[in-house]
Amino acid sequence: MTNELPRIDKLYDLSGQVAIVTGAAEGMGREIARYLAAAGADVAVADINRPGAEQAAAEINEGGGRGRAYDLDQSKEDSVVDMVSAVRRDMGGLHILVNNAGIQDREVLENTSVALWDKLQAVNLRGPFLCVREAARVMRADGTRGRIINISSMGSLHPIFEGLVAYNATKAGINALTRNAAFELAADGITVNAVLPGATPTEGQARAPGPPVDEETIRHMMPPLGRAGTPGDIANAVLFFAAPGASHVTAQFLVVDGGHLNR
Ligand SMILES: NC(=O)c1ccc[n+]([C@@H]2O[C@H](COP(=O)([O-])OP(=O)(O)OC[C@H]3O[C@@H](n4cnc5c(N)ncnc54)[C@H](O)[C@@H]3O)[C@@H](O)[C@H]2O)c1
Repeated sequence: MTNELPRIDKLYDLSGQVAIVTGAAEGMGREIARYLAAAGADVAVADINRPGAEQAAAEINEGGGRGRAYDLDQSKEDSVVDMVSAVRRDMGGLHILVNNAGIQDREVLENTSVALWDKLQAVNLRGPFLCVREAARVMRADGTRGRIINISSMGSLHPIFEGLVAYNATKAGINALTRNAAFELAADGITVNAVLPGATPTEGQARAPGPPVDEETIRHMMPPLGRAGTPGDIANAVLFFAAPGASHVTAQFLVVDGGHLNR
């Protein structure tokens, strides 16, 4: 025991680590990529929106970090396999995967078509499953005690407003994916955790197809802490799980919702 204080900077130092952030062309993903880069990680910005991914990576590089854009349609197995192996080849390994990409299409239960259900399942659940599987294969093969962080939603635990049956079913699947993958990968020192955002205004959320949300619902969305969430609030929670100081934390859900679910 010495009197030396813990080095907080070391507990959050990601130097020499390679991170993939899916859906990092905009919204929360872009901010998560910026936070990981600020902590020293080399970041693969993987997105279906190639120009957006290029721009997000360029902004990281201009800010003094290291970012690189990759094509990804996570609903397609080949695309996930190709992206993960390209990152490993180009960047020299894989230490952190943030499964952030998702779509937020809404529809009330009775109008939810099989096509909408299947689209949400393919992008929001099959995609993250494929990314976890491919990352686990690489991390295990390389002996990397890696970190996987899945972006779920507070709505996976409790209904928030109408129109989110199919979407929240995918996010509940993310929670089960998180805990089961954490169980299977623990022996290799790989942690798997989830961040569950509350309402966080982003480009994608504003654009999401679905019935209009009425004024009363919007008022109800203001959480007890008195402001909406920001992408930075979510990125900070992701950084906690990714950082060296969290090496003994796995299979956990961190709800970042300003107290919304606690009313
Ligand atoms: N914004 C919120 O209030 C909120 C709340 C809870 C959970 N979430 C979840 O957080 C994550 C990010 O949300 P956001 O609001 O930043 O969304 P966003 O739409 O702003 O960003 C999502 C990104 O994912 C990309 N993407 C979409 N489909 C893809 C695919 N098939 N393959 C690869 N990339 C794809 C998009 O191009 C975009 O860059 C999502 O998983 C979302 O479900 C958001």
